[in-house]
Amino acid sequence: MIHFSKETIQHLPKIPRLNLINSCTGYKSANLIATKTFEGISNVAVFSSVTHLGSDPAMLGFILRPTTVPRNTYKNIKDIGYFTVNHIVESMIVGAHHTSARYEENISEFNHTDLEEEYYAGISVPFVKGSPVQIYCKYLNEYDIKENGTIHIIASIEQIIIKENIIQKENWLRLDLENVVAINGLDAYCVPKLVNRFDYARPYVPTKSIV
Ligand SMILES: Cc1cc2nc3c(=O)[nH]c(=O)nc-3n(C[C@H](O)[C@H](O)[C@H](O)COP(=O)(O)O)c2cc1C
Repeated sequence: MIHFSKETIQHLPKIPRLNLINSCTGYKSANLIATKTFEGISNVAVFSSVTHLGSDPAMLGFILRPTTVPRNTYKNIKDIGYFTVNHIVESMIVGAHHTSARYEENISEFNHTDLEEEYYAGISVPFVKGSPVQIYCKYLNEYDIKENGTIHIIASIEQIIIKENIIQKENWLRLDLENVVAINGLDAYCVPKLVNRFDYARPYVPTKSIV
């Protein structure tokens, strides 16, 4: 095993440091966040920091990079108040990765990738077509992480649209049936496969498989 001290990490060149720190916490969720400008221009970008914050009330959050450069997703969410979170599947990864390119505010990444918009009645912001889990979210709040200038965006889950075949007993979603990907670091996309599922763990009771 190789040891990287805090000091070694600090002195690494930017890219090796970035790769190390972005991969060392493990696989992350892979989502496309889609929004719209006031003028009606769609925006979509890849985010690996979306996590659920609690189920009652249903909430999620994600980490936004420092706003030292224009952040279109952030601006649109603040302007419109709503956004969508869409799971990335294997067939989408080229387009999904390309959405991280810094396009101007008046350019829709949907026009520069093979990703397609999808709309549902009564909702003005776009979803990503073909995504098996699409979540309609309402901006609630944000917390500045003063140590590094990032922002934790907090949102309520207003609606979830799910491809029927992945909904299992008691609403557990079996994501591998639709090849939902995970992100390893900042540029690697993987397809996880289910290995096992277990009963609720209780002290001294042997763990039981429920698959
Ligand atoms: C794999 C991957 C994951 C990313 N995750 C995040 C993230 O969690 N938060 C973030 O602010 N930017 C993240 N980015 C960068 C954004 O995708 C990028 O800044 C994009 O240009 C934002 O688009 P926007 O300006 O339209 O919002 C990620 C990029 C990649 C390639």
